Amino acid sequence: MAKVEVTVCMGSSCFARGNAQNLEFIENYIKENGLEAQIDLSGTRCSGKCAVGPNIVINGVEYNEVDENKLKEILDSIKSSV
Ligand code: FES
Repeated sequence: MAKVEVTVCMGSSCFARGNAQNLEFIENYIKENGLEAQIDLSGTRCSGKCAVGPNIVINGVEYNEVDENKLKEILDSIKSSV
């Protein structure tokens, strides 16, 4: 099973607009669900799409204006597929 790649934009705009909390949320979610081996979490620099941020890319799919509700939905669907 290939790892799920989660890349969080750590640029100052995304970080300030929610990715600081989103990152913490993902880290906790991984821990609570024991998904360390399935999810590869990393950070990236500003991709120039600050206006639609905070941005998170999961397996090449870009999600915009990500908040914890949206994240939970995405992570739940990943969890049920791994
Ligand atoms: S800071 Fe995330 S796209 Fe610019």
